[in-house]
Amino acid sequence: MNLPSFLWLWRIAAWSMGFALLTYFALAISGGSLFYLRSQGKTGPDFLRPLHLIIGALLVLLVFLLLSIGIVGTIGHFGSLGHSPHLLLGILVALLVSVSAISALNIQKYSWLRWVHIAINFLLLAGFIGVSWTGWIVVQKYLPKNL
Ligand code: HEM
Ligand code: HEM
Repeated sequence: MNLPSFLWLWRIAAWSMGFALLTYFALAISGGSLFYLRSQGKTGPDFLRPLHLIIGALLVLLVFLLLSIGIVGTIGHFGSLGHSPHLLLGILVALLVSVSAISALNIQKYSWLRWVHIAINFLLLAGFIGVSWTGWIVVQKYLPKNL
């Protein structure tokens, strides 16, 4: 086992995941504020909507970074994919975050997409918990043998 490259893989994964969770909660707060303000018939500060959009773009980037690191690292190390449920959950999270972003960008045209966006984001939280859980299990499978 090539220890340095393997630690490198999961260290970036853990940091990116930390930032991804941070952006998720920033999105929950800014999105929730937008929702509340709209329900009160208010508009709120001008920066709120673009801020939510920019943080959202950041989350999409982080998730695809994690997906690429996971796939490249696993193929580089094992020569194949699919060593645990982590693969399926990783792909699911990447799909959910894409649907969330695409639905959000079309809310102006089709207002019912607002509810798709919100529902998908609840599923996304469950997906994040699942992918962190299985990622952590995978990490522990290797760490004790090598440290
Ligand atoms: C995947 C990344 C995300 C992107 C690109 C994104 C983008 C957007 C955009 C552009 C809107 C405004 C739609 C409009 O009024 O035209 C919106 C609305 C909203 N977003 Fe997000 N979002 C993302 C993730 C999230 C997450 C993770 C949450 C909550 C956990 C969230 C909660 C909300 C809510 C509640 C609204 C409705 C605001 C309202 O009623 O006016 N978003 N999102
Ligand atoms: C959105 C978050 C994440 C995505 C999309 C993702 C995606 C992936 C994918 C697709 C693989 C290939 C799995 C396989 O073919 O069996 C992988 C592997 C891996 N991931 Fe992740 N991952 C994420 C988060 C994490 C986290 C939080 C950790 C650890 C803290 C982690 C640790 C690993 C490790 C150690 C591997 C090597 C696989 C193995 O030995 O079976 N990942 N990841």
